[in-house]
Amino acid sequence: MPETTGRARVFVTRTLPGSALERLRAECDVELWPEPGAPPRAALLAGAAAADGLLCLLTDRIDAELLAGATRLRVLSSCSVGLDHVDLAAATARRIPVGHTPGVLTDTTAELAVSLLLAVARRVVEADRFVREGRWCEWSPDLMLGRDLSGATLGVIGLGAIGRAVAQRARALGMRVLGWNRTRREVAGLQAVSLPELLAGSDFVSVHVALTPETHGLLDAAALARMRPGAVLVNVARGGIVDEAALAAALASGRLAGAALDVFASEPLPQSSPLFAAPNLVLTPHIGSASVRTRSRMADLAALNLLAGLRGERIPHCANPAVYDPS
Ligand code: DGY
Repeated sequence: MPETTGRARVFVTRTLPGSALERLRAECDVELWPEPGAPPRAALLAGAAAADGLLCLLTDRIDAELLAGATRLRVLSSCSVGLDHVDLAAATARRIPVGHTPGVLTDTTAELAVSLLLAVARRVVEADRFVREGRWCEWSPDLMLGRDLSGATLGVIGLGAIGRAVAQRARALGMRVLGWNRTRREVAGLQAVSLPELLAGSDFVSVHVALTPETHGLLDAAALARMRPGAVLVNVARGGIVDEAALAAALASGRLAGAALDVFASEPLPQSSPLFAAPNLVLTPHIGSASVRTRSRMADLAALNLLAGLRGERIPHCANPAVYDPS
């Protein structure tokens, strides 16, 4: 990190799309992790220790150890909406505001959830393989029969912005929608029910809760057993919400007809995962927000949060507003 006068020092853990880095460089001295991939732990700790502001991604573990060593850190900004990689309590105890990027990725993530619902229902990935492997001999009335979304019931777990956006799209596709939220939430156009009612009453279930100690393992073996026989599960939220071994078993036994996962308890998904052997499972590499426009907007918002914090202003999207309470 170069020594300079007056300008804040910022550590950015990965190159960012769009013009976010230019914005930061206009006001700060930026150290950008220069190598591909996330910085190793030691580099992350060293970068944070020398910085007034840290702009990180969901692949960077921002825990109490890091925060304890980052004595000059005044603001932390994550280029993500989810913050399960950040020890919010430790940051709040240090009165460090933590920024995140809600809103800009809602539609893009909802579109992926709907893509995955359709991909599983209509066997899109399997059909693609079938054609490529030269197994398509003739059109046949019973070839690759799937399921209709129209007329089916979707259960949306978590009625935040993304869950509601998925519900809206599902209704446009002719689905009936049930919804469950940890704190009861009435949403127009969907029926609020308990989690067991949702699991028992849905043909398709889509997961949209944040990963917290309360939602970790929310869809464990017992919850999966409550789902309708032949139901389909989609998760674009966080891997730790679903018990992956139990899901693999439910797919292998045919109890669940299919699933699609964009997120995993450990990412990238280890080759040893039982999910690789599970049938009727579509896997994508955590691409919920991965559109050109959205990733650029997320980076802009992350830069905006960081710059506001460094200027001593209230950051626009703060996940721990208690830091602004008078002490
Ligand atoms: C997030 O922002 O939390 C998503 O998982 C990645 O965009």
